Amino acid sequence: MTDPIALAVIGGTGLYKLAALEGAHALEGETIYGKPSGPLRIGRIAGKRVAFLARHGEGHSLPPHKINYRANLRRLKDIGATRVLAINAVGGITDHYGPRVIGCPDQIIDYTWGRISTLCEEPGTEVLHVDFTEPYTASLRRDVLAAASLTGIAMVDGGCYGATQGPRLETRAEIARMRRDGCDLVGMTGMPEAGLARELGLDYACLALVANWAAGCGDAGEITLEEVLANVEAATAPLPNLLEAMLR
Ligand code: HPA
Repeated sequence: MTDPIALAVIGGTGLYKLAALEGAHALEGETIYGKPSGPLRIGRIAGKRVAFLARHGEGHSLPPHKINYRANLRRLKDIGATRVLAINAVGGITDHYGPRVIGCPDQIIDYTWGRISTLCEEPGTEVLHVDFTEPYTASLRRDVLAAASLTGIAMVDGGCYGATQGPRLETRAEIARMRRDGCDLVGMTGMPEAGLARELGLDYACLALVANWAAGCGDAGEITLEEVLANVEAATAPLPNLLEAMLR
């Protein structure tokens, strides 16, 4: 019998493969909610089994509002994953969240619309009102932060992730409103993913990689894809060490 999946990682914009994954093989599959964004890549880090899924598809073909979040999480649950580390490229709103900073937020505000955001839609399904006071799992956040501290990776502990609809970036006024609401970060994929993970009983935490200053923040001018990808690539560099330390 194979050992259990110790960690599932969902990669966001700029992270379509997990370099640290040893001996990875692809695992295709479907769920009761349809197809996930792509195959799972199953391999090992620090000797432990790890599953990786590229949220937007391996060729980044899915915009945030078209991702089948339900199928992605259901698929991870179906293969026995219990802990999910979500990696999200984000824009930084508040001062300590400048480009290339890595953060582990502790709150979310959901500004998305029209996405299927629950597993309780199907007729006959029991309606769950899951507690979401703390949207991220405290023990998984602690493990992420402890691994960062152990390996000397600078990481901001806490902050509020504002999930927007996309795929366009925000206006200056939208970001100003989000700042007033208490958001530190802005991204397009944090919800409904986190809420669905809670409904499925999966431990879930977010590693936010700051790709750019959000509209009107810091020295932001026009936000370009080149800037976003270069900063995400830089912020991704410590990931192998972080995952290794988490799984050791
Ligand atoms: N806004 C929303 N999502 C993002 C951004 C942004 O500025 N940067 C990376 N993902």
